[in-house]
Amino acid sequence: MNTLHWNDDLLLGHPSVDAMHNEFVEVTSEAQSADDSELAQKYARLLDHLTRHFASEDRMMEESGFPPRQCHMDEHAAVLKSAHEVAAKLATGDVALCRRLIDELVKWFPKHSQHLDSALVHWVNKQRLGGKPVVIKRSILGRAHTDMTLPA
Ligand SMILES: [Fe+2]
Ligand SMILES: [Fe+2]
Repeated sequence: MNTLHWNDDLLLGHPSVDAMHNEFVEVTSEAQSADDSELAQKYARLLDHLTRHFASEDRMMEESGFPPRQCHMDEHAAVLKSAHEVAAKLATGDVALCRRLIDELVKWFPKHSQHLDSALVHWVNKQRLGGKPVVIKRSILGRAHTDMTLPA
């Protein structure tokens, strides 16, 4: 079984995306360690998480006009479709299929995050910061200048 643990390598540098990814790791881990009697409840939480996670990234892509958004949004839609199909199977007692999907999600996530989510974060941060890096540099220089003590 593949497992996922939260670590700094998973950080992308956007507060809400990172918080959502931290939650992904938490809910998938809980679903993986659930026994059969609690799997339906844990899986429902995972499904709710995926819905919110993908919707918030899709919204970010739409609002920021992220150019290659279609491929990223299509991947979200495909994963969510499978997750809903598996929920229907789980309702009929197919526990094994549900566990297989959770395992696949754990394998899928790092690649999706590194390739697609990181490109989105890069795009959004670049737009959000705009000309600000210059302002930050100026304030650092200003402070360094003020704090500097020149020898007499
Ligand atoms: Fe994500
Ligand atoms: Fe994504």
